[in-house]
Amino acid sequence: MIKEKFNLDSNLFLAPLAGVTDIPFRIIAGRLGAGLCFTEMISAKALYYNDKKTIELLAVDEREKNTSVQIFGHEPSVIAYAARYLNDNPKFKSIDINMGCPAPKIVKNGDGCALMSDLYLAEEIIRACKDNTDKPVSVKFRLGMDENSINYLELAQICERLHVDYVTLHARTRKMYYSGEADWSHIKKLVENVDIPVFGNGDCFTKDDIKKNMEYSNCDGVLLARGAMRNPFIFSENENRSKEEVVDIIKEHMQLKLEFFEERRAILEMRKHIQWYLKGFKNSNRVKNEINQLTDLKEIYRILDEFKYE
Ligand SMILES: Cc1cc2nc3c(=O)[nH]c(=O)nc-3n(C[C@H](O)[C@H](O)[C@H](O)COP(=O)(O)O)c2cc1C
Repeated sequence: MIKEKFNLDSNLFLAPLAGVTDIPFRIIAGRLGAGLCFTEMISAKALYYNDKKTIELLAVDEREKNTSVQIFGHEPSVIAYAARYLNDNPKFKSIDINMGCPAPKIVKNGDGCALMSDLYLAEEIIRACKDNTDKPVSVKFRLGMDENSINYLELAQICERLHVDYVTLHARTRKMYYSGEADWSHIKKLVENVDIPVFGNGDCFTKDDIKKNMEYSNCDGVLLARGAMRNPFIFSENENRSKEEVVDIIKEHMQLKLEFFEERRAILEMRKHIQWYLKGFKNSNRVKNEINQLTDLKEIYRILDEFKYE
């Protein structure tokens, strides 16, 4: 069991989310109970070229509980460099390789999910990473490029052969992006066919979803992405949150953003989080629209406090 092997207190992980899983959100998810939190995906190539912004993305704060870094790339030598570079950073518990990103600019470059159309290269990438780090290595992938090329089982078997520590399957094809439904029967099939821990991913928005899918597939744990963006309390014992708790989390999140970014950027970035946090609450549209017009922190807090007590 990965939870025991990695000494984690939960097998519910915060999935890697580009533009979302920065230090502030990882601190919050960890505090609310996420066992492991992933960084945003990091370009191995950019690391190789010592890109300043990429290096900044590798910062980890001491308030984070357990952090795994996720890398992407399609050149074994560059991945090997990244693995050596990250191996020296004691703050990362493990290294995850992204073989699931469907974004056109990533796939066109041969990165992310494109590696599923070349399993020989995928194997070289995994080997390059494994051979250059002592840290645990995991691989996150999809069902395949499309419904006619479902090959997650072959990729998982490669991972098994190379002694990857665990795999995560997002049960959609690249062609589906984020549409349609994640098909957990594939996660079940993967669990039954490989002797390596399997984490399931896709469409878990409530504790009930998690329970149902884990019981059905018998997977080792779940990576939560959009469900956690909307409600990070999903990592806690009790996922139900009151309006007061949500406003308090928004303020905590804002304060953390302000610690790491200048005020204007923090406020702009918090707009999207506020939208997700408030989803489903009465009058939330009005509050979201009002906040989206504001750049003054005091005014934003005033609107949130009014909402809290109305
Ligand atoms: C905004 C956004 C950014 C994402 N960024 C990444 C990423 O950097 N690396 C990755 O492996 N997956 C990324 N994903 C995919 C998620 O980790 C996850 O696999 C997917 O959203 C399905 O899980 P869910 O149904 O719980 O949202 C991203 C998804 C979203 C919505």
